[in-house]
Amino acid sequence: MDLEIKNLHVSIDDKEIVKGVNLSVKHGEFHVVMGPNGSGKSTLAKAIMGHPRLKITQGEIIVDGVNIADLTADKRAKLGIFLQFQNPLEIEGVGFVNFLHTSKRSVTKGDVDVNQFMGEVDSWTKKLKITNGIVGRSLNQGFSGGEKKKAEILQLALLKPKLAILDEPDSGLDIDAIKVVAENINEIGEKQEMGLVVITHYNRILSYMKPKFVHVMVDGKIVAEGSTELIEKLEKEGYDSFVGK
Ligand SMILES: Nc1ncnc2c1ncn2[C@@H]1O[C@H](COP(=O)(O)OP(=O)(O)O)[C@@H](O)[C@H]1O
Ligand SMILES: [Mg+2]
Repeated sequence: MDLEIKNLHVSIDDKEIVKGVNLSVKHGEFHVVMGPNGSGKSTLAKAIMGHPRLKITQGEIIVDGVNIADLTADKRAKLGIFLQFQNPLEIEGVGFVNFLHTSKRSVTKGDVDVNQFMGEVDSWTKKLKITNGIVGRSLNQGFSGGEKKKAEILQLALLKPKLAILDEPDSGLDIDAIKVVAENINEIGEKQEMGLVVITHYNRILSYMKPKFVHVMVDGKIVAEGSTELIEKLEKEGYDSFVGK
């Protein structure tokens, strides 16, 4: 799946947040979007997913040659696009395993072999070092920040989208968990040939990741693009050196 974002402008309540973003993510490519808090990264991610509160005032979001800007979030998910929220919702009364199974059936448009599926749940739960029985609880209910993030990586592993946008998969994680999450994201992306866009404002997770392209977003615009060398430059100079360019 190829994603091509062209001159995208996005507003919330008539305030422009994303101010003309171009971004191209080809099949199976791994991209990172970095930027300070409030630069519009989450808004960009939500716009790609079709968040109903956002208004696309200009530009296009093209998936495999088709503009998806008018599709509902549900239809975009069925195309194979996945968004990990920066702040996942807690849903009372919806068992996590049930939720996973229903989501899987919805994206595969058919039956899922329950035994095989539970085997996969079990194996990824171990790989992600998910403990405390969260798999048996309601979705995100009482999950710690780190558990919510791991729960979303578990969804990523099981749902196998074609393109995934992960919004701060490192927030709320301790150092050991960051490593586990990063390594699993690398593995899932490679094995599934999944297009990945990882959003972060913090470079620690990037020391365990192997993105091909890095984009820096400041004040609603992509102000720099390049390879992982850009991460080193950011580490030394901070975001300030990119402001006003
Ligand atoms: N629901 C909202 N209503 C009003 N303003 C919002 C809303 N969500 C985000 N914003 C504003 O949009 C800007 C960008 O936010 P966001 O996309 O969350 O940035 P980032 O993810 O890069 O930290 C911020 O100034 C924020 O206050
Ligand atoms: Mg954000």
